[in-house]
Amino acid sequence: MDNFRFCVGTDIRFGKERLAELPEVLAEYGKKVLLVYGGGSIKKNGLYDKIQRLLKDFEIVELAGVEPNPRLTTVKKGAALCREQQIDVILAVGGGSTVDCSKVIAAATFYEGDPWEFIKDRQYVGKALPLVDILTLAATGSEMNRGAVISNWDTNEKIGVGGWEMLPKVSFLDPENTFTVSKYQTAAGSADILSHLFENYFKNTEGTDVQDFVAEGLMKTVIKNCPIALVEPNNYDARANLMWASTLALNGLTGSGKGGAWSCHPIEHELSAYYDITHGIGLAILTPRWLKYVLNEKTATKIAQYARNVWQVTESVDELAARIGIQKTYDYFKACGIPMTLPEVGIDEEKFELMAQQAVKHSDIENSAYVPMTAADVVGILQDCLIESSYL
Ligand code: NZQ
Ligand code: ZN
Repeated sequence: MDNFRFCVGTDIRFGKERLAELPEVLAEYGKKVLLVYGGGSIKKNGLYDKIQRLLKDFEIVELAGVEPNPRLTTVKKGAALCREQQIDVILAVGGGSTVDCSKVIAAATFYEGDPWEFIKDRQYVGKALPLVDILTLAATGSEMNRGAVISNWDTNEKIGVGGWEMLPKVSFLDPENTFTVSKYQTAAGSADILSHLFENYFKNTEGTDVQDFVAEGLMKTVIKNCPIALVEPNNYDARANLMWASTLALNGLTGSGKGGAWSCHPIEHELSAYYDITHGIGLAILTPRWLKYVLNEKTATKIAQYARNVWQVTESVDELAARIGIQKTYDYFKACGIPMTLPEVGIDEEKFELMAQQAVKHSDIENSAYVPMTAADVVGILQDCLIESSYL
């Protein structure tokens, strides 16, 4: 296990009716609030009205319309509002896109220059406005981490940036706020949670039983509860387990102490950067093909461990057990209603080469991924995503 620092100061307020605590939480930072939200789901499900009632004694400035795959233009708009209106605290209400956009607005407010500069540097060092969020979709883990991913449509780039000051101060996690999430987004969010767990689980660092066994438990949690939530969207416990799993999958718990680059995320970020697809869907399509690509004599033991501990595969030969595990992963995503080929989400071969080169340029997959990948390897993985696959 590698050395690490684990310090996540987000105050989690989990459960029903906890929003009554919102005024007290925000009052600690001031009276002038930037309320940030997406395309209107919070207006449809009543959360917006509830917040307005709770914050009647606050001065609220609104930034609506944060896009899925949030854009640099919206970050700039938000930062300008914060400066002009002398905002004290940002309240993000929505999924990962709204929380991510708010994190970067919080930082960009104090940044002199184009925020794309520090996004491209991958890190923000400096002051940021305090951020409180009300999460409405279980997926990214943004509610308890210091990362954010922003898209620049002028350059077709989607880049992740991190900063200690961007960590949410308080996150309200009420599973009831996710009852209205569509089947598609529920499945996509669950695939994203699983992918965060896979990315950290399949690493070359030895001796990480704590991280790996915790990850296996979280994977089983998602695999069990997503299908329940798809059939019964108002099932509180299913939504609660997905929500808490999403937070724990990417707050450092399973990733700390393990080195090396992630693999599927850098490739997916290029798919979203060029085609604006849903992040979790891209990951679900890529994951089984990537697992097939990384399966070799050295990795078979770990992929077989995943197959046996997560999918109860009983096969004793590692390579075969691994293949069964990959097939089960593929079948699971398909059963959740995820389109499992790129053409189904409107992507053909045209930009494979370009996206592969960008994935290598924007990440360290060529050197430090679980199994290093060149642009040609990435093209091969993308080509595999053109048609339905079988791994047995
Ligand atoms: O915009 P609204 O109207 O709110 O609708 C959203 C959006 O259309 C809808 N939605 C959210 N909550 C809902 C709801 N619809 C009904 N009821 C609700 N309660 O769902 C759609 C998707 O929302 P979005 O916020 O885009 O989804 P998600 O949470 O999956 O976030 C995806 C973004 O996060 C980034 C992704 O790349 C992508 O840009 N990521 C952020 C990470 C992080 N900060 O650590 C890590 C991840 O790997 C990921 O890259
Ligand atoms: Zn992700």
